[in-house]
Amino acid sequence: MQDKIKALLQEIASFSSASAGEVEQFRLKFLSKKGIITDLFEDFKHVPADQKKAAGVLLNDLKNKVQEKINTLKQAHESSGDHGKSGMDLTRPAEQVELGARHPISIVRNQIIEIFSRIGFTIAEDREIEDDWHNFTALNFPEEHPARDMQDTFFIEKNPDIALRTHTSSVQIRTMEKTTPPIRMIFPGRVFRNEAISARAHCIFHQVEGLYVDKNVSFADLKQTLLYFAKEMFGEKTQIRLRPSYFPFTEPSGEMDVSCLICGGKGCNICKYTGWVEILGCGMIDPSVLENCHIDSSVYTGFAFGMGIERTTMLKYQIKDLRLFFENDIRFLEQFKGSY
Ligand code: PHE
Repeated sequence: MQDKIKALLQEIASFSSASAGEVEQFRLKFLSKKGIITDLFEDFKHVPADQKKAAGVLLNDLKNKVQEKINTLKQAHESSGDHGKSGMDLTRPAEQVELGARHPISIVRNQIIEIFSRIGFTIAEDREIEDDWHNFTALNFPEEHPARDMQDTFFIEKNPDIALRTHTSSVQIRTMEKTTPPIRMIFPGRVFRNEAISARAHCIFHQVEGLYVDKNVSFADLKQTLLYFAKEMFGEKTQIRLRPSYFPFTEPSGEMDVSCLICGGKGCNICKYTGWVEILGCGMIDPSVLENCHIDSSVYTGFAFGMGIERTTMLKYQIKDLRLFFENDIRFLEQFKGSY
């Protein structure tokens, strides 16, 4: 019996409760008419005479301890307000709420927008499902022209005139059609190409298009704008390099490389040991594209550029596989906590 009482004493000492309901349960368990203490007093009658004294002391101790415990717990609940009645402990620390992280593509998209808005570019968006005119024809891709093969297009079934846009250059046309120069804008958005998914290519990706049309816009303006962007995006020490290229809607056309962030130009596997990484296509808008949008090419000139957001993000955060952007693995996304 003494062992049993000792075990109960321990149970009482370690009991603590969050609610008044639990304290009441505890009281009933020990002190009610059919409770443990009543039972023990019953058993006490059968304890051998030589053990009665010790057992009696313990039993009384047990009874007092239970009462004491109940009193202190009740007091604690009453003094902490009315939650004792509702069974809630408002003093318990709340569970931490984990904040999510912004997706890296959104972070870099926002940074690009911010950089260009500092030098006077405004933002617009337009449709992802385009007609042939805005995605190709107005941009100087004549029908049957092999340049259309540069972009593996998703067409809408039964209507070859409608497709998912293959680049944000379509928004150049939409904007020039309805705006008179000066125009200084950027167009972020999703684009679609029928490509096999790999570490370097995906059928959905993001671009930001830039467009500047005014009197006397020159290639020097294009170059300075892009240099400013590269330094703001990748750091003051970044250098740019323009290589001649071809796009049907710009003449001359170029591709811009930035000096490799990772090795600082010495050569590494990110820049394939060249020291440079390509990030965008650009050029002076072909006069016939301006004319297609009813802008007088004898008065106005302009430049345009288009960059991949994935490519820019990969370079900035040293991400080696494009597929990570679309898998939404929480372990990947969590690493961008705290960035906007
Ligand atoms: N639209 C081109 C592409 O997707 C990029 C580009 C935009 C090139 C503007 C020149 C001017 O590859």
